[in-house]
Amino acid sequence: MRDKMTVPAIQARKGGTKLTMVTAYDAPTARIADRAGADIILVGDSVANNVLGYEDTLSVTVDDMIHHTAAVTRAKPSALVVGDMPWLSYHLSVEETVRNAGRFLREAGAGAVKLEGGRKRLKMVEAIIAAEIPVMGHLGLTPQSVHAMGGYRVQGKRVEAAQELLTDAQALAEAGVFALVLEGIPDVLAELVTRAVHVPTIGIGAGPHCDGQVLVFHDVLGINEGKPPKFVRRYALLGDMATEALQHFFEDIRAGKYPADAESYHIDAETAQAFYTLGSQEE
Ligand code: KIV
Repeated sequence: MRDKMTVPAIQARKGGTKLTMVTAYDAPTARIADRAGADIILVGDSVANNVLGYEDTLSVTVDDMIHHTAAVTRAKPSALVVGDMPWLSYHLSVEETVRNAGRFLREAGAGAVKLEGGRKRLKMVEAIIAAEIPVMGHLGLTPQSVHAMGGYRVQGKRVEAAQELLTDAQALAEAGVFALVLEGIPDVLAELVTRAVHVPTIGIGAGPHCDGQVLVFHDVLGINEGKPPKFVRRYALLGDMATEALQHFFEDIRAGKYPADAESYHIDAETAQAFYTLGSQEE
């Protein structure tokens, strides 16, 4: 059993051994991620696309996220569990934001929350941190801004946009976020930000220079269908394996090969005989 990962332990990894983070949305996937050695399990709002069948992340609610985060923490992982604050749960008022963030710790057992955005969200980030709730920032291609961005597009490709993102990263780090996800930005910009902030950066589609990397569980394991984004490396094809396994199972059922004798419950011969008599009396 590994030592429980904590926020200070994550912070101490800046510039050291790369941090490993993966999403999980339920207890069995959390157990798998934890056994494999994840430092951080992110209960991402990507549960929307990867599990709940939505087109984007905008439909998930705080209740949905609490439900999935609690399922993950019930697996008692050693990894730090970070709950993702969904769209509109940290945009309306400071009070509502802190209350929503607190639910992830109190009701779902998370160790921290993550939210998207830079200086625009600074007041909310500061208020959550002031309530003793650790915050992970998230900059670059922020999926909750899909409509504002005009689609899922790589961000920070021009000098002005890169400068904005760098300033956002510095502002979040100064406000006290304990780590920063950098998503969908050029590798050079991620390197620049990683050098400029004192907190660990965790990249997804942000090149190799971040302090750690994160991918979606269903992408790494090939559970999702279709062509994955460029930055995804599939380490298994579990979707295909699962389909083949179920095809085999259904063939066995149709052929009368399942269940076998060893997979059935038996009683002693005498009682069985009495059962048959029962059957014949019914006829
Ligand atoms: O919701 C999510 O999965 C994320 C990522 C950083 C992978 O926010």
